[in-house]
Amino acid sequence: MAKLTEISWEDFEALGLEAKKPFLELPDGSGMPYHTLFAQQFDRNALEKLCALANRIRFINKSKEGALYLKNVLAHKRAMLYFSQPSSRTFLSHLAACQILGITTGSVRDAATSSEFKGESHEDSVRTFSSYFDMIIMRSPERGLAEKMAWELSNSERPIPILNAGSGKDQHPTQALLDIYTLIRSFENKGGLDGRTVTFCGDLMRGRTVRSLSYLLTNFTGIKQIFVAPKDLQVPADVVMILAKKGIDFEVTEDLKAATKVSDAVYMTRIQDEWDSAKGDSAKIDTSRFKFGAEELALLGKDAIIMHPLPRRDEIATCCDHDPRAMYWRQMRNGMWIRAALIASTFGFADTIMNCGY
Ligand code: NCD
Repeated sequence: MAKLTEISWEDFEALGLEAKKPFLELPDGSGMPYHTLFAQQFDRNALEKLCALANRIRFINKSKEGALYLKNVLAHKRAMLYFSQPSSRTFLSHLAACQILGITTGSVRDAATSSEFKGESHEDSVRTFSSYFDMIIMRSPERGLAEKMAWELSNSERPIPILNAGSGKDQHPTQALLDIYTLIRSFENKGGLDGRTVTFCGDLMRGRTVRSLSYLLTNFTGIKQIFVAPKDLQVPADVVMILAKKGIDFEVTEDLKAATKVSDAVYMTRIQDEWDSAKGDSAKIDTSRFKFGAEELALLGKDAIIMHPLPRRDEIATCCDHDPRAMYWRQMRNGMWIRAALIASTFGFADTIMNCGY
């Protein structure tokens, strides 16, 4: 088995994502991740296993006895939520997922309240957290930081797992997991996810959820991906290259209405203007045609769904909110279940829960 203790940071960093995958796996041979850093770590088998576990946890949690059983499964573990970028859902759903499994948590939500403010390096901060906790769930504006921290910890006396809860403009693997879980649940009694058409709309250039989900969708058969955005915010070249290399059918367009008509899922995203190089740059882009409202809703198929990682601004009109095809509320709750599944799996408790008597 490949180990992070047997490769230098420089050599590891230089590898492609698929080549990095074996270094990040659980040692039990299951192929499931120990450190969860990017979407390329999940193949179809891993996704199906996690979704089955999330379903199981959701079911067990319905009864008081089941919920109390789950609360005991990881009652011996502590997790640190280390968020140095704003977050509501990702923070809270990880917190709730930990609570479901009985994990005690600690948190830093603002680097200004930690010793990083006094000049402590990320490496030293993470080493500090690892002294007190058994897992670090981290969000950072820095691309690749979670990877570096995973390497650092693996080469320390406390090699605890890292979960990437959003890294810069780059990846958001756990969001992609909840998006896949939502898609699978939405189509499970309607012929499944294979062969569907998924449209991404909004700021595809800087949306990390788009990159991670686009990759996860390539694990399914015959899924077409449509990218709808203004030219300056279109899907980045690295995403397109992966699709082209894998022979995935995709289309790049500015026509949301035409895409809506043929889509099984429309995944809306907000303009990520926190990344503007000069304040107000995004406001100069005409985004009026990249919003989902009553007209688009009228064009959407009856079994199709509207998704959004949230937070939303005005890219989905509130008149859509009560339509049964508006899946963004359920999508948010799915995040709690799939994150509970991922955390249980990371600690090696997937089979225990799958096979328990509840
Ligand atoms: C997303 C993120 O942080 O990338 N939010 C989330 O985690 N649900 C999307 C966004 O901020 O637009």
